[in-house]
Amino acid sequence: MGWNSWNAFSCGVTEDDVRDAADLLVDTGLRDIGYEYLVVDDCWMEAELDEDGRLEPNSEDFPSGIEALADYVHEKGLKFGIYSSAGDVTCQGYAASLGHERAHAEQFADWGVDYLKYDNCGDHRGRDAISRYAAMGQALVAVDRDIVYSVCEWGQNQPWQWGRNVGAHLWRTTGDIVVRWSTDSDEFGLGIVDIIDQMNDRDIAHQNGPGGWNDPDMLQVGNGPESGQAQHEEADVDRELTEAEERTHFSFWCLFSAPLMAGNDLAEMDDATREILTNEAAIAINQDPLGIQGTRDGAVENKEVWSKRLAGDECALILFNRGEHTAEIATTVETVDVPVDAERYRVSDVWSDDEWTTSGSITATVGPHDVAMFRVSPE
Ligand code: GLA
Repeated sequence: MGWNSWNAFSCGVTEDDVRDAADLLVDTGLRDIGYEYLVVDDCWMEAELDEDGRLEPNSEDFPSGIEALADYVHEKGLKFGIYSSAGDVTCQGYAASLGHERAHAEQFADWGVDYLKYDNCGDHRGRDAISRYAAMGQALVAVDRDIVYSVCEWGQNQPWQWGRNVGAHLWRTTGDIVVRWSTDSDEFGLGIVDIIDQMNDRDIAHQNGPGGWNDPDMLQVGNGPESGQAQHEEADVDRELTEAEERTHFSFWCLFSAPLMAGNDLAEMDDATREILTNEAAIAINQDPLGIQGTRDGAVENKEVWSKRLAGDECALILFNRGEHTAEIATTVETVDVPVDAERYRVSDVWSDDEWTTSGSITATVGPHDVAMFRVSPE
């Protein structure tokens, strides 16, 4: 769990934004609820490597340097993350790390970096993904510091199959998330429901678990048309998510046991966004020690049932209304991922705190693009 600068600030990020984000992670209570890693995405570096092939912080936007920034973030009780790319330049055209892995990993360790997001942009110099990502993975384990390794290869070469082998702790499964419910195939980025579908269709749940996580990209909860990342899209698209859609977004990322990297401007966070990002019942499902990626149990027209097994023979359940009209969605314990031998089950509503018991059937009225999410526990 953490926060990443890209979705809110895009290429405009400065060291002041990062320090403000560190302060706000503390002041808003997000740090204490688990959002621990503060990651600076693309554009923190100069356009060229220095004459020794080393990365240099952008002198205009990061004048104090990365080590000072990492110190500031650490003093707030947070971990500090940074970004580079397994090509000759980053996605925004800045200097990157292909061919300089050892030197750059040493710089990261010296600066106090705890997390590296490693992107897939730039010229690959004819090298395949596994060799490029393994080079940085080996460089990171060779340095004298624990650094979480986040492979950002967009799922193009099935990184769920080799991520662990190159030392990755998480790997992007899919293209870039945008502030949309869905996008057409000729548009940039993926909407929330597109990513939910790809996570299911790729049949990769069995690759997910402690130490190696499928990463469906960072959260767009709290973002809108003005958010930095949205500026990379065509100007004439509708880039709002409804509150229901944001709830669905967060619920599925929790059901998937996905990394939860908030991506909103914390200074502008309203109560609705804060309530979603800090829902402790949902986060407990996300952080369940089994780390299982929930899957779809059934779908009838726009009504879908998804679940994941939790530790202690409990399960997390989502009733998802994909349609445009309010619908009643029903399931039973026989359908979802929970043992069927109990006489009664306790059902706790993640979003309303309601709680009741049932001998097996579970039903909810769900608004358009919304979910009902429950923890189901055999009594
Ligand atoms: C790629 C990544 C994004 C972000 C941008 C930065 O598109 O997938 O998550 O890091 O690059 O340029």
